[in-house]
Formats: sequence, C-alpha cells, structure tokens
Amino acid sequence: MALEASEMKKIVAEAAVDRYVKDGMNVGLGTGSTAYFAIKRIGELVAKGFNLTCVATSVQSEELAKECGIKVVDLDEVDHLDITIDGADEVDPSMQLIKGLGGALLREKIVAAATVSEIIICDGSKLVDKLGVKTHLPVEVLKFGHLHTKYALERQGCKAVLRMKDGKPFVTDGGNYIYDCKFEAIEKPFFLETRLDVIPGVVENGLFLNTAYDVLVCRPDGTVMSMADEAANKKE
Ligand code: 5RP
Repeated sequence: MALEASEMKKIVAEAAVDRYVKDGMNVGLGTGSTAYFAIKRIGELVAKGFNLTCVATSVQSEELAKECGIKVVDLDEVDHLDITIDGADEVDPSMQLIKGLGGALLREKIVAAATVSEIIICDGSKLVDKLGVKTHLPVEVLKFGHLHTKYALERQGCKAVLRMKDGKPFVTDGGNYIYDCKFEAIEKPFFLETRLDVIPGVVENGLFLNTAYDVLVCRPDGTVMSMADEAANKKE
C-alpha cells in the first residue's frame, strides 16, 4: 500500500540524518515540513550524546531545534557547515532545484553556500523533467519599489504574484516580500538566474543551481533512493 505524504517525509528525513550526520559536525537545519522530521531526528542524536553545532535557516526551524534540545548558533559563529539537510519544491534530473515555497529561500541559500555537502530530502512528487513545470519560482524582493521589481520580473517571461498571508503581503524573516513567478517551464535556469540577479530590488531567487551534493527521494513503497548514487552507478 502506498504511504501517506507525511510518512514519506519522515522516512526520507531520518534516512538522510542517519546516513550523513556524524558526531562533532556543524549542521545546517532546513525549513519546511520535510526538514521538520530531520530536525526531530537530529534532536534524538543530541539526546544520545552527539556533539553537534547547528545553524537554522529560519526562525521557525530555530524554535523547533531549541525545543528539541539542539544547540543553535548564528552562521557567523562557525567557519563552515559540514552538512545541511533541507527540502525542495522541484528537483530536475541533474539535481538542480527550486526552493522557497516555505518562504526561507534567502537564509537557505546563504546557509547552503557555507555548506560542504547540501543534502536535499523529498518525495517523488517533487521530481520534474524541467524546472518550473509544476510550481512557481519564488523571488524575494525589497519592499521599496516592489511593483517596479514585479514588472521587471515579468519581462523575463513569467506571471509574478505577490505572496499573501492572512490578507496581507507575506513578510520573510529578512523583512522582504516574495513574488511567486510562474513560468511555463524554465528552459535555461543558469541564464534566467543571471537575468534575475541583475534586477534592482531582487534580493534572492529560488533557483538553487549546482547546490545539491545528494538528493534523497522516498518512493511510495517507503524505499529511499539517492540521486547521487544513481548517477555514480550510471557512470560505472
Ligand atoms: C522553504 C523551502 C522548503 O525546503 C521547500 O518549500 C520544501 O518544503 P516541504 O518539505 O514542506 O515540501 O524551500 O523555503
């Protein structure tokens, strides 16, 4: 029988922690409903005596980590992170990602850049042939002049919608807005990223390119597949 989505999230999160987190590491904590289960598992390791120093990618994850007894420090208190375990919204066959539906893309990208091995965890519903086919691309923008930023985003070929929460614009942990940009498909993600990065007012975009060291995917039968292992096996 196929598993529920939450069961798959728990299985893949625990598999990632058990495979990649070692005693003494500096660990980045992702954000979202899949990363939630990874933080819980890391809390169990800490309770068993693991000495881990963790950095959170959002206020929400930091609060959860503290509830789980995990030591959380600012990113600038460590010189690097060995591992970060985070979710994703879309994953293409070469492990390029869209992230940010949970609204934490800015801190997630800064933390990923400080990480040696970024591990992504998801279920099969996140796998796509091309980025942008299923979901929109979140883009974090400054509040100042945000409508002008929206027009510039739309000139890249998308429909940009200001993210709302409880009837008001959603505000990120960094105090910014998010535009959710729907493209038909993102044919050239590296090119698009360079175009987005030069728009005044864009703080960060949700394309995470050449960021993932491995993507672990839970299948409906509960088995976990590593995209990095699959790619290595194909080369042999
Ligand atoms: C938050 C993110 C999340 O990792 C992404 O939205 C996946 O979340 P979930 O595991 O709940 O599907 O990028 O900014």
